[in-house]
Amino acid sequence: MCGIVGYIGKKCNLKKVLIDDLKTLEYRGYDSSGIAIFDGNMKIIKAKGKIKNLEESLKKIDIKNSELGIAHTRWATHGEANDINSHPHRVGCVTLVHNGIIENYVELKDDLIKKGYHFVSDTDTEVVSALLDDIKKKEKDNIKAINKLTLVLEGSYALGIIFDDDYEHLYAIKKDSPLIVGICDDCNLIASDVTAIIEHTKNYMLMNDYEIVRLSKDKVEVFDKNLKIIQKEILEVSWDINQAKKNGFSHFMLKEIHDEPTVLKNTISEYIKDVHTLVNKMPNFSKYNKIHIVACGSAMHAGLVGKSIVEEYANIPVTVELASEYRYKKNFYDKKTLVIFISQSGETADTIAALRNVKADKIDTLAIVNVVGSTIAREADQVLYIRAGVEIAVATTKAYMLQVAMLILVALNIAYVNKSMDVEEINKILKEFKKLPKFVDEIIAREKECFKVAKEISNQEDVFFLGRGVDYALSMEGSLKLKEISYIHSEAYPAGELKHGTISLIENGTIVVGIMSNDKLAPKLLSNIKETVARGAKILIITTDNLNMEFDFDCHKFVINKVHNILQPILIVVPLQLIAFEVARQRGCDIDKPRNLAKSVTVE
Ligand code: AGP
Ligand code: GLU
Repeated sequence: MCGIVGYIGKKCNLKKVLIDDLKTLEYRGYDSSGIAIFDGNMKIIKAKGKIKNLEESLKKIDIKNSELGIAHTRWATHGEANDINSHPHRVGCVTLVHNGIIENYVELKDDLIKKGYHFVSDTDTEVVSALLDDIKKKEKDNIKAINKLTLVLEGSYALGIIFDDDYEHLYAIKKDSPLIVGICDDCNLIASDVTAIIEHTKNYMLMNDYEIVRLSKDKVEVFDKNLKIIQKEILEVSWDINQAKKNGFSHFMLKEIHDEPTVLKNTISEYIKDVHTLVNKMPNFSKYNKIHIVACGSAMHAGLVGKSIVEEYANIPVTVELASEYRYKKNFYDKKTLVIFISQSGETADTIAALRNVKADKIDTLAIVNVVGSTIAREADQVLYIRAGVEIAVATTKAYMLQVAMLILVALNIAYVNKSMDVEEINKILKEFKKLPKFVDEIIAREKECFKVAKEISNQEDVFFLGRGVDYALSMEGSLKLKEISYIHSEAYPAGELKHGTISLIENGTIVVGIMSNDKLAPKLLSNIKETVARGAKILIITTDNLNMEFDFDCHKFVINKVHNILQPILIVVPLQLIAFEVARQRGCDIDKPRNLAKSVTVE
C-alpha cells in the first residue's frame, strides 16, 4: 500500500535521489509522503498529498549532500492523510518508515504513554518508533533491539530504520509487507519493490519475514531471527527501466493497454505450440476434481472468467472467492482440490493470508502472478508467471488480460487431461491463440472509436454493465475499470437478474453497456437490453461481428472479431479498458493514481 525507499552510500544530493526513487513507488500509495536525511543533523520533511508537494517543501530546506536517508509515500490506514501522520516518524533515537498495519498498536501505545511517551500523530507507525526507542534504553545492540521489537509487534510491517547512535548503517526488517535490498557498487538501498532501485542497479535481494538487514555504504548483512548472519541469493531485475516509464504516452494506463499485444505474445508463446507442449509446460492437473480460485478486485474478476471457461470446457467445478472472505470462512476442500491464487503484485495482504491458511491445511496451491519472486509466487506450491512486465497504473489492464489468458491455457490443459475436448480442437484453439495479439492490436488501433463512445458516458452519474455467462464476468471488470478511475458509480449485473429489482434505477438517459459475445445467450441478452430501452436507457453494445445485426433500438455498437468462444474474453476486455480510460480523461481524473487507491493492497 505504501512505498518505502532508503539509501546509504556515497555522498550525493540525497534529496533528489530519494525523491526520484520515491516517485517510482508513488503508484503504491500517494495520499502523503515524507523524507528523513542525515546531513550532520537529522532533517525530516513531510507533506500531505502527492510527492510534488514534498518536493515543494524541500525547496525551502537546506540539506547538504548526504550519505543516509529514508523516504515514504503513504496510503493511510491509521490517521488521516496529513503532514503530522506522514512518515518518517521520529521518537527519541529512532527514525523510521513503515508499510503495513500494527494490530496491537493501541495496547502498545497505552503502555508507552504510561512510561512517559507523548504521541503527536494518530498512526500505528509512531508507536513502533517509540517502542523501538524504549527497547533501545536497555538493549544497545541495534540488531538485537530490532529482534526484540518483532517479539512484541503483531500485524504487518516493512520498516526502514535509522538509529541516532549509528549513522554508518541503515536497518530494515519485514513481516508480511514486501521489502527488497538493492545492491550497488557505491551504495545500498532498501525499497518496497524493484521499481525504486532500477535506476541504480538491477541486483537485488528479496527479504523474508523476520530477516534483519544492516546496510553500510559497501556492505550488506542479513541476520536471521536467531541473529545468525545468512547469505542471500542476489537476483537480477528482468526488465529495463523504460518499462517503468511512459515512453511518450499520456498515462501509464494507456501505455500498458498498448503493451497488451506484446505481453500477450510473451506470455502465451511458450505454451501454444501444441497441446503436448502446453501440458508439459504446466503443473499436472490430473489429480484434481475441484478448483477454488481466490483473489481480490480485478484478479477475482479474471477468476470469474476462468470459472466460466474451466467449467464449460474442462468439465470441472470451480468456485471463485474473494480472498478477504475466504481467509475467514469455513472452506470445503480436500486433497483433490486445487486452490489457485491470482495476483498481479503477488503482495495483496488478503490473498497472502488466504494462501497461508490453505497451505496450513496442506491443500495444493497454484499462483498466477506477475511480479517475479513476490510473496505469493514464493509461498504457493507452484507458480505460473504472466509476463506483463511492470504495471504502474493502479487500474490493471495488461495484467488482467494475461490472467485471463493464463486461465484459458489452464482450462485447455485440464480439458485435454479430462478428455473433455479432443486434441484436434485444442490444437486448433492454440493455433488461433497465436493470432490474438494481432487482433488485440487491431482493436487498440480503433481507440478513437472507443473514445467517441466515452463522450456519452463521461457526464453520467450511473452506468450499468450487463452480460450473461462469461460476458457477465467481463462486465464486472468493465464496471470496476470505469468506477475506479472516473469515479462514476457503476454496477455490473447478470442481464437476466436486472428485472428482479435493480431495473427500478433505469430512467431516461441511463447508460447501459451490454456485452454480447456468447452466441447462445445473445437473444436473451437482447431482450434484457430492450427492457432497459423501454425505460429510457441509452445503450452501448460490445459484440462480435457474427452477432452484429441491426437492432430495433438506437445504440452505439463496438464490434470486434469473432474468435473461438474460449478466447473471446481477451478481445472483449480491450474496448472496456479504452472506454474507461477515455471517460476518466474527459473527466480530468488522475487516471494512473486514482483517489483513495493504491496499486498493491498490502494491508487488510
Ligand atoms: C484493479 O484495477 C485494482 N487495482 C484492484 O482491484 C486489484 O486488481 C486488486 O487490488 C488485486 O491486486 P493484485 O492482483 O495485485 O492482487
Ligand atoms: N499503517 C501505517 C499508517 O497508516 C502505514 C500505512 C502504509 O502502509 O502506507 O501510516
